[in-house]
Amino acid sequence: MVFKACIFDLDGVIVDTAAHHFVAWSRLAEELGVPFSHEDNEQLKGVSRVDSLEYLLNKGGLMLDPATKLKLMYRKNAHYLELARNTEPADALPGVRSLLIELRSQGIKVALGSSSKNATMILERLDLLEAFDTLVDGNHITLSKPDPEVFLMGAKALGIHPAECLVFEDAQAGIDAALAGGFPVVGIGQVSELSRAKVVIPGFSNYKWSDVLRELEA
Ligand code: BG6
Ligand code: MG
Repeated sequence: MVFKACIFDLDGVIVDTAAHHFVAWSRLAEELGVPFSHEDNEQLKGVSRVDSLEYLLNKGGLMLDPATKLKLMYRKNAHYLELARNTEPADALPGVRSLLIELRSQGIKVALGSSSKNATMILERLDLLEAFDTLVDGNHITLSKPDPEVFLMGAKALGIHPAECLVFEDAQAGIDAALAGGFPVVGIGQVSELSRAKVVIPGFSNYKWSDVLRELEA
């Protein structure tokens, strides 16, 4: 397979901020008296802030007015920012920085495809902004993963057909989004949680570009 570009999700792929989102939603759920489990969190990975809140309210049978929902999203984000504020270059997940550099050196374009509105701030803290040719994040999209909009916008910005862009994703919603858009996808994490990805790797540690390609061809 020949790829002209790669599109990376952010949370849980480039940096372990997925854990911060989990803690932040757990805190909000506790404040609302809604039970929130690891399984719930798996459903919310890759899903926008507003859709995640709707999931939580629905689970708790809570009907709230738009102004209250805005306040709750603000509160969840404040919890998240408190946890993420010390993010630094050393927090990039093992192997991801060197893979990003290697892709660039081989002339493969690199895009971000994230649902997060905090993506630019996190990439700045990781000192990884320059590693991307284009960024598409929660501020640009109208439809959350599993809709493919975020990846389609990334491919369009790069001028490359989806079939030639490899997506890296740690969330089932993101894998479904990539597949719906016609993108080949590599799951990052555990096969048990990413069952619809044909190829799943545990992370980028020990994975150079040639190793990723080998997994796809196996
Ligand atoms: C995704 C995360 O990347 O971004 C979700 O996987 C998160 O957990 C979503 O809810 C939105 O993030 P933010 O930073 O805009 O609240
Ligand atoms: Mg993710």
